[in-house]
Amino acid sequence: MNQLPSISAPVVDYLESHEQKGLLRFLTCGSVDDGKSTLIGRLLHDSKRVFEDQLAALRSDSRKHGTQGEEIDFALLVDGLEAEREQGITIDVAYRFFATDHRKFIVADTPGHEQYTRNMATGASTSDLAVILVDARKGILQQTRRHSFIVSLLGIRHVVVAVNKMDLIDFDADRFAEIETGYRAFAESFGFDTLQVIPISALQGDNIVERSPQMPWYAGPTLLGHLNEIDVSSDDAGQPFRMPVQWINRPDLDFRGYCGTIVSGRICPGDPVAVAASGQHTRIARIVTMDGDVEEAQSGDAVTLTLADEVDASRGDVICDPKARPEIADRFSAHLIWMGDQKLVPGRTYAVKAGKQSATGVVSRIGHRIDVNTFAQDEVDSLSLNEIGFCNLALSAPIAFDPYEVNREMGSFILIDRMTNQTVAAGVIWRSLRSADNIHRQAVDVDKQSRAILTGQKPVALWFTGLSGAGKSTIANLVERKLHARGRLTYLLDGDNLRHGLNQDLGFSDADRVENIRRVGEMAKLFVDAGLISLVSFISPFRSDRQLARKLFEEGEFVEIHVAAPLEVAEARDPKGLYQKAREGKIRNFTGIDSPYEPPEAAELVLDTVARDAEALADEVIRYLGLD
Ligand code: ADX
Repeated sequence: MNQLPSISAPVVDYLESHEQKGLLRFLTCGSVDDGKSTLIGRLLHDSKRVFEDQLAALRSDSRKHGTQGEEIDFALLVDGLEAEREQGITIDVAYRFFATDHRKFIVADTPGHEQYTRNMATGASTSDLAVILVDARKGILQQTRRHSFIVSLLGIRHVVVAVNKMDLIDFDADRFAEIETGYRAFAESFGFDTLQVIPISALQGDNIVERSPQMPWYAGPTLLGHLNEIDVSSDDAGQPFRMPVQWINRPDLDFRGYCGTIVSGRICPGDPVAVAASGQHTRIARIVTMDGDVEEAQSGDAVTLTLADEVDASRGDVICDPKARPEIADRFSAHLIWMGDQKLVPGRTYAVKAGKQSATGVVSRIGHRIDVNTFAQDEVDSLSLNEIGFCNLALSAPIAFDPYEVNREMGSFILIDRMTNQTVAAGVIWRSLRSADNIHRQAVDVDKQSRAILTGQKPVALWFTGLSGAGKSTIANLVERKLHARGRLTYLLDGDNLRHGLNQDLGFSDADRVENIRRVGEMAKLFVDAGLISLVSFISPFRSDRQLARKLFEEGEFVEIHVAAPLEVAEARDPKGLYQKAREGKIRNFTGIDSPYEPPEAAELVLDTVARDAEALADEVIRYLGLD
């Protein structure tokens, strides 16, 4: 009894520190060519050596404890894999496990092929840190930008850029500095919490575990040194309490326990809590774990909570901090990483799983697709395998969530194809679309019909679309004059004019154009509602936006008029000299030059501006309206 502590005290100390040391999950991004496999192999090998040195001393003292330590580690590894299995995603991600005397590590190793966005996304979704590999000879490539973007989208706040193969550039400090400066400038907008750039040679082991004698000019940490020391725990500190209920344990009438894993925050018995969906308040009575009752629990702990009052909470409900409840909504916008072999079909019903919550839902709108190489936002009708889009979703029932940037677990979801049962998308929630929440329509007595009777006309929206220089404004202006001469009440909404007022905050990016058209669509609708003939003269280059505008109107109220001129003709006319400027690169995103124009497929009227003059075309519109 007396002897034991003196022999085992250092061992116990060591084991305790081993037990308590944190876990760091990280992801490596790069291709085989960048030396990714070499780097992982090197980390596993060298860290094991560090670890083994400690263990060797230990083993002679306590084989039993050493083994236990390993068992715990193994369980953690399996944990990572189970999360995937539960989601039903078959993905090529290898998880490797290693430890130093400071820390345990799980590294997600994903294949480096360009197209495997989904593999990377899966690895990234559970990681705290990303190691982005750059070949010192090649510098920052498109792939580096792409990896960085996905890493930032999936909420990884800590990044290491490992500039590899320094041996092949003679450990050139200037070249390294150039890469570091370039990367920092490019990554600034991502706002990573920490960004460490480390010159290494995975092959020779420089700056992996030991400081490299070849690079005395580098004063920062080694790769493993940095991974050992970096503090990612603060990321979660201060987050409000959230526990999605996984199941309800009711062995007898006296016990009702809510089981689940705490995804953020901490709690003690006596703390006030609420059920997110119903808003019912109560207090924590007991926190029960495998090891009996505990006085405190925090994120990552699997617990059974008993509550002071009877509440209405079932599987999927979230027990939360009553002062900081998650949002409850059935409509939200989110980034979707499409993983399905078949394309996304907006409007098709998919099964939605957000944590333990289930619903069905549709993608009601694809805002844009993001080109992960250039970050350009493209207007699209669908998403294909490995593409990322910013979408609006409408669910069959509200769910509780936090925006992904606030809480990764509460802000992510998956979409499942109901026919094949395949996971087709991973989503990260941006924010709820609240327009329908708490705002109810006000009934009014004087309506469109009664106003139309007063004005004595059929209110319509005449939507002129076409290239800049096609003649939209000229023709719309003529049509308005002719209508006015016939005693009709009209109002002309012109792109250039609105951009000086209501839309002066908008430019010509795809997103701004979408908003531009959304606003003018709503305006035109109000004018039609007011009983007027409203004329809209906007390039409105995107088909989907015009369709959305059309949906605001009743049958027959929306007249799409394609003011058609081939690009060469519009460019030759160039009434404002803008085409020339665009060709000279002085104007960016100019429609027809470096931004697309999608002609209508089924316009009510097509005006051929090459064959006929504006006067004749204006008459054609008047004829269409039956007002000639
Ligand atoms: S839309 O694409 O969003 O519908 P809108 O009709 O409002 O465009 O505005 C187009 C007008 O803005 C053009 O007639 C032109 O005078 C001017 N303009 C300035 N920059 C651009 C650009 N990059 N692309 C198109 N039009 C531009």
